[in-house]
Amino acid sequence: MKIEDYLASLPQSIISGQDVQLPDNAFREIFRFSQLNKNDVFYHLGCGNGNGIAIAAEEFGVKKAVGIDNDKEKISIAKKLLEEKKISNGILQCQDILESDISDASVILFWFSDQSMIEKMMPKFSSLKEGCRIITIWGPLPGILPDMVDFPYILNMVPFKNASSLQEQLLSVFGTDCIDFVVAWEFAERYTRAVGSPDAGNDRFLTILQSLVIWINAKNLGVACGHEIPIPIKNYISLLRTYFNIDVEYLLNED
Ligand SMILES: C[S@@+](CC[C@H](N)C(=O)[O-])C[C@H]1O[C@@H](n2cnc3c(N)ncnc32)[C@H](O)[C@@H]1O
Repeated sequence: MKIEDYLASLPQSIISGQDVQLPDNAFREIFRFSQLNKNDVFYHLGCGNGNGIAIAAEEFGVKKAVGIDNDKEKISIAKKLLEEKKISNGILQCQDILESDISDASVILFWFSDQSMIEKMMPKFSSLKEGCRIITIWGPLPGILPDMVDFPYILNMVPFKNASSLQEQLLSVFGTDCIDFVVAWEFAERYTRAVGSPDAGNDRFLTILQSLVIWINAKNLGVACGHEIPIPIKNYISLLRTYFNIDVEYLLNED
């Protein structure tokens, strides 16, 4: 089966990201990476159960932490959490982020993979005040050259710098001239470690899938190292097909 069909067979609330929540340690890594501090007004777009808001307020002492989510139940769980922890500078809003006013933000955590959603947020992000840091995960904002990368965490600072090509943008994320199997594997592993659950039993499987996706995209964009398909990539493609009935080879464009 094609990888799309495999993904379609998984629970949709997970694949769409609707019920995906970052682990607490990922929040801490992101906040250290963005140097979140007492002068910041922090927004978490899609804040879920509010753990990120609590950590930003309690451990990083931000001036104000605002969580926005369009799921009523999640917002009420988040409100309880802030009450229990007696956090007074945390604000929770049940709202569509497309309609939210985020104009006073200095740091924003924005983990969305839905392209149309990302595109719709771009005008709002572009008009934020100078120096505002928008943290994305896995990829930068569309067409933008990131200011700092600690993969999978990416800092996009206002005013944005446009990338001259997708290749330039990709290479800036990976910090390399070209992508070989080792780079693809290392970055896939970093992503799995950062956002995966600590007791996940299927880390290796996820890393194999992610590294194939990274390498195949690099190849299709002309930024893979060399012209040959590396042997480990061939082996993993064949392993997925033989043992899991998942086909990824068709994703490779013809040379
Ligand atoms: C961490 S975000 C990331 C998921 C995201 N959909 C993705 O593509 O990876 C998930 C949270 O965003 C919330 N959410 C999804 N769409 C939203 C919207 N338009 N406005 C506000 N919150 C939203 C969900 O309720 C959930 O708590």
